[in-house]
Amino acid sequence: MLIQWNQDLSVRNENLDKEHQKWITILNNFYDGLMMSKSKEKLEGLVQEMLDYTNYHFASEEAFMRSINYPDLADHQEKHAFYIDKLTGFQEKIKEGKLILSLEVTNFLKTWLINHIKGVDQQYANFVDGK
Ligand SMILES: [Fe+2]
Ligand SMILES: [Fe+2]
Repeated sequence: MLIQWNQDLSVRNENLDKEHQKWITILNNFYDGLMMSKSKEKLEGLVQEMLDYTNYHFASEEAFMRSINYPDLADHQEKHAFYIDKLTGFQEKIKEGKLILSLEVTNFLKTWLINHIKGVDQQYANFVDGK
């Protein structure tokens, strides 16, 4: 199940919307790799890419929230840290050959991403708009 970015996911910030689009593309690539039963090395590469980009995006988003003096920054950062922990855990298990990559894993990553953008990221957009 691939995700497609659409206007419902917009945080009304061009750069951050672009980052979300890239993040979704990377997650879709990971899903494709899984479906095509790519080698362990290939999947490790895809997980690494996702972890790198997720870290990059979270840092960028946190810098933006700091720049607008967003009051819920600490809480938001905790949610980011939770996701990074999960991804790191998956990565370690893949390396040890212990994780049977399943739809459950990709569904978790996908559902979290969508719910996070809609439920958490869009709150800073509302803050910017004075809502
Ligand atoms: Fe976020
Ligand atoms: Fe985000």
